[in-house]
Formats: sequence, structure tokens, C-alpha cells
Amino acid sequence: MPDPSPHSKDSRNGLAGVTAGHTSICSLDRILRYRGYAITDLLECSFEEVAYLLLWGDLPTKNQLREFAMRLYTHAQSLPETVLWCFERLAKTSPQCSIMDVLRTGVSILGQLECDNGPEEMPHNRDLSQERLKAEQLLGHVPALLASWIDCISGRRPTPWPKKPLATALLEKLCHTQISKNAASVFTKTLILYAEHEFNASTFAARTVTSTGSDMHSAITTAIGALKGPLHGGANEKVLEQLMDIGTPENVEPWVARQLENKDVIMGFGHRIYKSGDIRAILLREAGHQLDDSSPSFEPYRKLEKLAHKVESVLLEQKRLKPNLDWPAARIYHALGLPINLFTPLFVVARMSGWTSHIIEQMSDNRLIRPVAKYIGPSPRQYLALEDR
Ligand code: COA
Repeated sequence: MPDPSPHSKDSRNGLAGVTAGHTSICSLDRILRYRGYAITDLLECSFEEVAYLLLWGDLPTKNQLREFAMRLYTHAQSLPETVLWCFERLAKTSPQCSIMDVLRTGVSILGQLECDNGPEEMPHNRDLSQERLKAEQLLGHVPALLASWIDCISGRRPTPWPKKPLATALLEKLCHTQISKNAASVFTKTLILYAEHEFNASTFAARTVTSTGSDMHSAITTAIGALKGPLHGGANEKVLEQLMDIGTPENVEPWVARQLENKDVIMGFGHRIYKSGDIRAILLREAGHQLDDSSPSFEPYRKLEKLAHKVESVLLEQKRLKPNLDWPAARIYHALGLPINLFTPLFVVARMSGWTSHIIEQMSDNRLIRPVAKYIGPSPRQYLALEDR
């Protein structure tokens, strides 16, 4: 087979279809499964149950779940003072910054406070139960980082972390109000669906950092940076901006035509793996129907649903493109009253469970990740000393 030309699609294949390692955490064959359990069954669980499954390898017993939830709660309510001190100052100097940057900085400070300098012994000798405890700390700390930043920029006095399931507690902290059972249940489902997805870009980035023998906090800051991009986690924020831009069902066809003509991607559509549809998008759209119709944002949600369906049918007809998880997630977060700039940070809260599980899996059977590149630069040429150029 001839080598692909430097500008052919094949030459910039982004590792599409390449098996880059092994995992026992998640499989995408036919139906999405976490550790062998079908995602349709896991949607009945609490977020803590799913996070425990990903991190410890099995669904918890009642006792294990109670203790795990208590550990996460303890971490959520005990953010180190230094982080809060830094956030207060950063909120004054850069209140408008991306909240993804805030989380990346927050995790970085936590790593420094923990003196997480990476393994002293060889990676395969690491005490992985210590790493799991570190992961639990991040699972509790990161939602608290998010809520604390929102308190800082809104000038609110910090309140204690609610002693409730993590999803409910976080939603209450962010919305600053009691939330209905249905809202909590739909929000929990978004976190479960966002929790894990095999070798996606941010997880692979985290595994690559881990493979060098570096520490968990460094790998997580890398993953947050990767998730921020609009082709990955950042898409959920862009989805809502696009729906707002379209405005009404009559505008859908001219809007889509313009996008396609300009070769602009439509956010929330397409997927590297799911070429005939993302099951998570179907499941979340169904879950969205559970939203409480007494909530004040339900009417706008219904309107957005109509608009979204119209976009879906136009894109299916014209490009055979189907929505991914970010498509329904954006409307649901909006209906729950969450501001757009929280959408991708919420993805971080959920994916922390998948990332940390992959980091530990990489540590447990490590080999440096170091692929090769095909050189397409200038052919060998004569060097000229500076004075002769
Ligand atoms: N809008 C418009 N066209 C799209 C598209 C989208 N969202 N997603 C894919 N396409 C087009 C591609 O341009 C390509 O067209 P071409 O063959 O005429 O060049 C064709 O569909 C095949 O796409 P492919 O190259 O296989 O996609 P990919 O695997 O490289 O990229 C994504 C996958 C996710 C990056 C891409 O679908 C995308 O940018 N989606 C929008 C961002 C998004 O929602 N990200 C969240 C993912 S969960």
C-alpha cells in the first residue's frame, strides 16, 4: 500500500481505529458497559455507586457504599484553606476566566499540597490502594472546587457541603436552592453517562502522562486541559450557544445550510466511534422527559426540545449525522437552571471517576506510551553557518 499523501485524510487520521492499549474498565461493543455492566442498568444507580464500580472494580455492598459516600462527603467539605485563599484572590483578578481553568488550577494546587511527586519506586511496585484513596479525595474535592469558585465570584458566603448524595448536593450548591427529586435524578443520569468512555482524548492524555511515571494530579490537570477543547468536552457549552443562535424552528434549515457551506462543524453531532448513533444521547433524551414540568424552566425546555428535534431531522437527512451525548446534556443543564459556563466543568466532575480509574489501571501495568511519526518535512539539506546565510 502506498503511504498516504501528507494532506490526505488518512495522513491526519488522529489514531482513528487504532487499538492503543487494553482496558477492563469500559467497552463500547454493541452497548456501552462499565466493568461489564450495561449502561442501561447502571442508570438506576447513584453516582457514588457508579464511581465506586469504576474505581474499585465491583458494585459496592450497602456498607461499602455508605462508607465510600461518607469518604467523598468528608473530602467535599474539607477543601484545604490554601485553595480557598487562592480562589478568593483569583476571583478578584480574573472573575471571567474559564471555569475549566479554575478546575485545572485547583487540582494543580491540590497536587502540590499533597506533595504528589509521582512514584518513588518503580511504577509496577506502587501501592495502588494509596492511589485509590487519592482518587477518592479528588472525587470529593473537585465538586467542592467548583461550588467554592461560584461562591467566590458571586460574593456569597461559603455554606457547608450538604450531607446528601453527591449529585444532589452539588446541584443544590450550584443552584443555591432545594431541588426536586426528578431534577436530581435526571442530573445524576447525566453524571453517570459522562463518567467514563474508554480511550477518549482526555483519558488517553491522562494515561500518557501516567505512563511516564508521573503523578495522578499531573495526569488529571492534563485531562482537564484536553476536555476543555470544543471537539471534546467543550462541545456541550457550544451546543446551547448554537441552539440560542438558531432561535426558532424556521431558522433551522438556513442555519444548517450556512454551517455546512462554511464547513463549520455542528456541535453535539458526530462521534469518532459511534457512526450510527450514540446510545448515551438516546438514553439521556429519554431521561430528560422525567424533568419536572412544574419547574419554571420546563416551558423553555419544551421549546428547545422542538428546536433540537428539527435540527436532528435536518442533519440526518442532509448529512446522515446523529447527535452525541452533549446534544441532550446541554438542554438538560439549561433546564435545570445551570449557566452555560458550568456545563463542561460538570463533565469534569463526572469524568473524574473514569480518569482516575484509567490512571490506576495504567499504573498497574505500565509501559511508556510513545508512538512514532512519519516524517513529511524537507529532505536532507546542506547546513550553512549563520554568517553565510
Ligand atoms: N458537523 C458537521 N460535519 C461533521 C460533524 C459535525 N458535527 N461531525 C462529522 N462531520 C463530517 C466530517 O466533516 C466528515 O465529512 P467529510 O467526509 O465530508 O470530510 C464526516 O462527517 C466524517 O467525520 P469524521 O472525520 O469521521 O469525524 P471524526 O471522527 O474525525 O470527528 C468529532 C469526530 C466528534 C470530532 C466530530 O464529529 C465533531 O467535530 N463533532 C462536533 C463536536 C462534538 O460534538 N464533540 C463531542 C464529541 S462526544
